[in-house]
Amino acid sequence: MKKIPLIKPYITEELKAKVCEVLDSGYLTEGPVTRAFEENFKSYIGCGYALAVTSCTTGLEMALRALGIGPGDEVIVPDYTYPATADVVNIVGARIVIVDVSRDTMLIDYDKIEEAITPSTKAIIPVSGFGNPLDYDRLSRIKEKYGVYLIEDAACSMGAEYRGTKVGNQADISVFSLHPRKFITTGEGGMITTANGEWADWMMSYKHFGMGVEGSRLTNRFERVGSNYKLSNILAAVGMAQMEHIHELLDRRLELSKNYLGLLKDHPEIAIPQTTRHGKHSRQSFCIYVKGRDEMIPKMADLSIEVQIGTYALHLHPAFAPSEDCRIFGALPESLYAFEHCLTLPLYHELTEDDQAYVVEKLVQNLP
Ligand SMILES: Cc1ncc(COP(=O)(O)O)c(C=O)c1O
Repeated sequence: MKKIPLIKPYITEELKAKVCEVLDSGYLTEGPVTRAFEENFKSYIGCGYALAVTSCTTGLEMALRALGIGPGDEVIVPDYTYPATADVVNIVGARIVIVDVSRDTMLIDYDKIEEAITPSTKAIIPVSGFGNPLDYDRLSRIKEKYGVYLIEDAACSMGAEYRGTKVGNQADISVFSLHPRKFITTGEGGMITTANGEWADWMMSYKHFGMGVEGSRLTNRFERVGSNYKLSNILAAVGMAQMEHIHELLDRRLELSKNYLGLLKDHPEIAIPQTTRHGKHSRQSFCIYVKGRDEMIPKMADLSIEVQIGTYALHLHPAFAPSEDCRIFGALPESLYAFEHCLTLPLYHELTEDDQAYVVEKLVQNLP
């Protein structure tokens, strides 16, 4: 039986050669290859600054620190997301405020953000989940009206667009993940984008143990307490090699996604979450809503097809039980619905149209 995994990282001989070059050079820590990877990422997104970090999680934490968010502050996050979105709020000592999402898009509910804002709210971390861009027009109005920062958890949104502009340009600070579930991956890693040079310098300093930054150079003077969130030359070489193929990788994902949409359209028992208006979805994950999602995963595994849940509903987990550190805002029925019904289908560059037809055939046969 042919095995169809959920994802497959893009690892080529060319990529391996680039990694070996770095290994042979002996320069293994963050250095010129990391700088080149950042430049490459920056020009792809079209943003002012790009900073490579060890993960999306450490990038989000640093973004909160750069904006001076800490104890006494509240930060609003969606319930339907990977825990990292909320973890970082607690890590910097601020209070997590969890709000519901919209069932249609699986993205944060903008009305609920406004209802949850208090004088202590300093930032919102909306998530462009699965590659679906957010409604940045609406978020900008909220930002202006309440004077809060927007930090985008863009973990899954490489290549997504809003009104023709790449995600990574709309929020104060955006953070991408380079985990292997993402189609540009360094194994572990992240990339921060911003238009603000002061914040970029602050983050560059923080991720280098607090070393001073002059122009684009680091000084040997420690200006602040910092940490080590550097991305090594080795991992940057992996990212660089993939960035050279980003257009074809993204085009193939979009082509395969269109094919899934065609194959699924005659099955009313399967719903497809909507793309944000004026947005271009990058289909980091191809998600559907089905009944009997939990039973579907092992049934498909028996057929050697790997399907997975979408992501988590934070309020179902002990880490996010209501407390001084975590406020659950109102009921969360839409997040619960998304959590219980969302199923992610296989999607990667080597998947074929025949594979997709087989996945959909088996999916339909196994519906309750
Ligand atoms: C929405 C979201 N935020 C944050 C993360 C964490 O990313 P990383 O593993 O790069 O820290 C993930 C991981 O999948 C995610 O999906």
